[in-house]
Amino acid sequence: MRILYSGESHMEAVIAVIEGFPAGFHVDVGRINRDLAMRQDGYGRGDRMKIESDRVEIYSGIINGMTIGSPITLVVRNKDVRRESWNPEDRRTIPRPGHADFAGATKYGLDDFRLVAERASARQTASWVAAGSLFTQFLEEIGIEIIAFVESIGDVKTGHIEDPFVLKEKIESSPFRIPDPGIEDEMKSLVDRTKEDGDSLGGVFCVVARGCPAGLGSYNHPDRRLDAMLASAFMGIPSAKGVEIGAGFKSAGLTGSGMNDGMEMHDGKVVRKTNNAGGIEGGVSNGEDIIVRCAAKPIPTVRRKIPSIDFNTETPADSPYIRADVCVLPAMSVIGESVMATVLCKSFLERYGCDNMELIRRNFL
Ligand SMILES: Cc1cc2nc3c(=O)[nH]c(=O)nc-3n(C[C@H](O)[C@H](O)[C@H](O)COP(=O)(O)O)c2cc1C
Repeated sequence: MRILYSGESHMEAVIAVIEGFPAGFHVDVGRINRDLAMRQDGYGRGDRMKIESDRVEIYSGIINGMTIGSPITLVVRNKDVRRESWNPEDRRTIPRPGHADFAGATKYGLDDFRLVAERASARQTASWVAAGSLFTQFLEEIGIEIIAFVESIGDVKTGHIEDPFVLKEKIESSPFRIPDPGIEDEMKSLVDRTKEDGDSLGGVFCVVARGCPAGLGSYNHPDRRLDAMLASAFMGIPSAKGVEIGAGFKSAGLTGSGMNDGMEMHDGKVVRKTNNAGGIEGGVSNGEDIIVRCAAKPIPTVRRKIPSIDFNTETPADSPYIRADVCVLPAMSVIGESVMATVLCKSFLERYGCDNMELIRRNFL
């Protein structure tokens, strides 16, 4: 399966084109719209999300609610379209440190930082979530479930969670996507205080996939390792700055005997006492929960003054403030769920075939 995303933040739409998805799969479009709404939600988002009300439009590949094997085109229209405002005289010449402005303009030889932000903006993740929702639905049909939740915002952390799937309702109804409503007030006052201070916040979210068969990925080549594919995909989320799988960075401080997940046989099935490996050994899924954690830096656009340069005059200037979110961890966790679904769906189809559902059921179930 191949996927191509396109679209700018203030042009007509963001788009996903998916080629190689099996025919004969019944798509719940309402579910895609629900997932898009979850990406827009969450405490700490800015005014842009009040303008948009994302809905998916299907341009190809799905007829009467069923995939037909041809490329699927999913379109999410922008409401905040700025057709008239691209006058070169209005160009922005002061980059925001921390955003893609300076590095992106250098790469593409652009003299208007607005043109970089159009695609570098996380608006593109709406098309990832539309596609990710389709993949999540497919995975659910074959018995793989995914859940994402926020573990920390700034220095406010949730406690240890034994089983996030049991807490799914709590997570999905929380404005912070946390399983622990006891710390919602603390998170809320942190976000409010930070906003008041003209600043922003980062944090950590976790994504868990359950029911994934052993055997996805491969140790044969680095780019076929499931852990490498997940790390690359999660690092692709704007503002992601760290990814760990299972015990991750903590594993560096463990001994081998403490790290290894001992095996037992129960009713003909392998059972592990622990899951420090996060469901992947040697780059291959081992049948346990796949656990990925991702650290996000604080949003780069802040009202506080950050030193920058006006490239028109080559003189010092303050970084401009452009309408921005204060904290996007809840949205990022929804995006993370899509990213996990995308990688697992690709790997699953590679192993079990991707022509039609009938064939996949025969190969897998
Ligand atoms: C859902 C989401 C919303 C975001 N909203 C903003 C925003 O309003 N303003 C901003 O400056 N950055 C925002 N970011 C972060 C930037 O997109 C990101 O920092 C930028 O593209 C530079 O990439 P890097 O941080 O990975 O280096 C957002 C990220 C995500 C995932």
